[in-house]
Amino acid sequence: MENRSLVTIAEYSKEKILYMLEMAKQFEKTPNRKILQGKVVATLFFEPSTRTRLSFETAANRLGARVIGFSDPKATSSSKGETLKDTIMMVSNYADVIVMRHHLEGAARYASEVSPVPIVNAGDGANQHPSQTMLDLYSIYKTQGTLENLNIYLVGDLKYGRTVHSLLMAMRHFNPVFHFIAPEELKMPEEYKMYCRQNNIRYVEHTDFNEEIIADADILYMTRVQRERFTDMMEYERVKNVYILRSKMLEQTRPNLRILHPLPRVNEIAYDVDDSPKAYYFQQALNGLYAREAILCDVLGITLQDIL
Ligand code: CP
Repeated sequence: MENRSLVTIAEYSKEKILYMLEMAKQFEKTPNRKILQGKVVATLFFEPSTRTRLSFETAANRLGARVIGFSDPKATSSSKGETLKDTIMMVSNYADVIVMRHHLEGAARYASEVSPVPIVNAGDGANQHPSQTMLDLYSIYKTQGTLENLNIYLVGDLKYGRTVHSLLMAMRHFNPVFHFIAPEELKMPEEYKMYCRQNNIRYVEHTDFNEEIIADADILYMTRVQRERFTDMMEYERVKNVYILRSKMLEQTRPNLRILHPLPRVNEIAYDVDDSPKAYYFQQALNGLYAREAILCDVLGITLQDIL
């Protein structure tokens, strides 16, 4: 049987990405459709989440599916030593699809190999966050009118940030120029820079973050310094406030610039930026609902044709 899991965005071709964006657009037009009536969606969150879990659950509800799952693994038998494999085997007895977030890189891949039902990776450690990428691509497409030939600035924690890792892989089809803005401690890892070189993705690295550096940006993708990924808290303290975007920095930026952030933010975007028409992060999170309706349908075999 075909494995319809979504583990990494690298599995999506350009055609598949554009197809999924069209599905998301249809769901934005009509979010409530009972096409998953009778289906059960399981959300297994071994790590904290607000947006990803609630938007997947909202997507399932709006499509007529029922939702089971947990947001705190301490309240499950994994706290008694049950393995991930056994948990997946059990939940697949009850659900038609499993949406899973896990702290271990590769956990979603492993789950997809043992699961008889599709797995949707809702984030695995510092590795990948493909459903976030689909909503990021949808947000970029909506605000720029295209995914092609854009200047995309990734700012902050590029070492542990799974959202930026997924996004740069997805953008390989669209001829971007990336600017990586990070302190030395949080630079884009070599494996992703190698990925860029192998896929002819142009990139420039910076450690400064100021008005001049961002003047040509089409997309400014801010990220949080993720305290939970650090083993050395002294290092976290050194870098936690390294970049803060303030509204004054936007004065000379392009009119089409949009500021994205996967959220949650801590202090990397000052609150005065929220009033700028260039701030798009809350609409971006709303787009997650439509992108995730599309993903749930796709992994369950519902096609674009079925929803037109
Ligand atoms: N963007 C994102 O993954 O947010 P949550 O951690 O709240 O799900």
